[in-house]
Amino acid sequence: MLNALEWNAEENSLRLLDQRVLPGREAYVACRTPEEVALAIENMTVRGAPAIGIAAAYGAAMAASAGRGAVVEALDRLARTRPTAVNLFLALDRMRRCLEAADAGNLACALAEEAARIHAEDIQANRRMGAYGAKLLPRSAVVLTHCNAGAIATGGHGTALGILRSAREEGKDIRVYADETRPLLQGARLTAWELARDGFEVTLIADGMAGALMSMGRVDAVIVGADRIAANGDTANKIGTYSLAVLAAAHGIPFYVAAPWSTFDLSLPDGSGIPIEERAEDEMRVLFNGQRVPDAVRVWNPAFDVTPARYVTAIVTEGGVFRPPYAFKRAAGSP
Ligand code: MRU
Repeated sequence: MLNALEWNAEENSLRLLDQRVLPGREAYVACRTPEEVALAIENMTVRGAPAIGIAAAYGAAMAASAGRGAVVEALDRLARTRPTAVNLFLALDRMRRCLEAADAGNLACALAEEAARIHAEDIQANRRMGAYGAKLLPRSAVVLTHCNAGAIATGGHGTALGILRSAREEGKDIRVYADETRPLLQGARLTAWELARDGFEVTLIADGMAGALMSMGRVDAVIVGADRIAANGDTANKIGTYSLAVLAAAHGIPFYVAAPWSTFDLSLPDGSGIPIEERAEDEMRVLFNGQRVPDAVRVWNPAFDVTPARYVTAIVTEGGVFRPPYAFKRAAGSP
């Protein structure tokens, strides 16, 4: 299984697959301080909502050898990295509670164990989600996906891509269209690479191609991941997801969101309160051939959009498949 994150207990360090240089190189970066983990989250060495949460948890654990104050500082720093994926804040809350409960003599061990639990639970959640989601797909299916909600965006297996993996394990014939996902090309650089590496038949399309593809009847289902889901099912995910959902509705194609409970934010009644990260202009201003869009041109680069729940056919979680009307609340079997 692809491992985007690996904790080294002896060295108190976190090894990250450097997602900035894929698919050209499979390189790894070692983070030895919470600050290095925070920078790796900001510059997207590690990315994807669950993976960010797991990395941050290990980042907080790293600080334990320097005492409680250092952990509190680390938690605050890590919380200022990326605002949209709620998994990050849930993981940091868990680490904060663990810090409060741990004995001074056992701090480092307790925090490292809690981070490892967050990591292991995510893999289990993805496996369960995969089994539920696989049932939604016909024996032979062509699936369109956006961004990268794969093994490398999570603790392992993946959310949206985990469903494809599980469906294939059940013997289903799954073919995939991957949106390139402008501007950082997570679809072209990461999803296409990850799926091809796993032997899937995957075809890369420009983001603007999705509607034409659907109109040709060549997509059976759209499956995407999520960064934050409100109580009514409104879903934040990579910019461009909303357009896909509207297109899918217009063409009568099911639009599925796959996400673990750690992606739900039930303090928000709907998606209007989801904080949307705005990233650096240069991610769009610098063109592929090295030219720059003139400074006189303004650039607006939000990393995520919100898809209203009415466009979401079903939300697949580790607790099962939920269909509208969504009314997620804290109870057994829901986040
Ligand atoms: O900016 P990114 O690459 O971190 O955005 C990632 C996504 O939008 C994913 O779809 C989402 O985090 C789910 S990952 C399982």
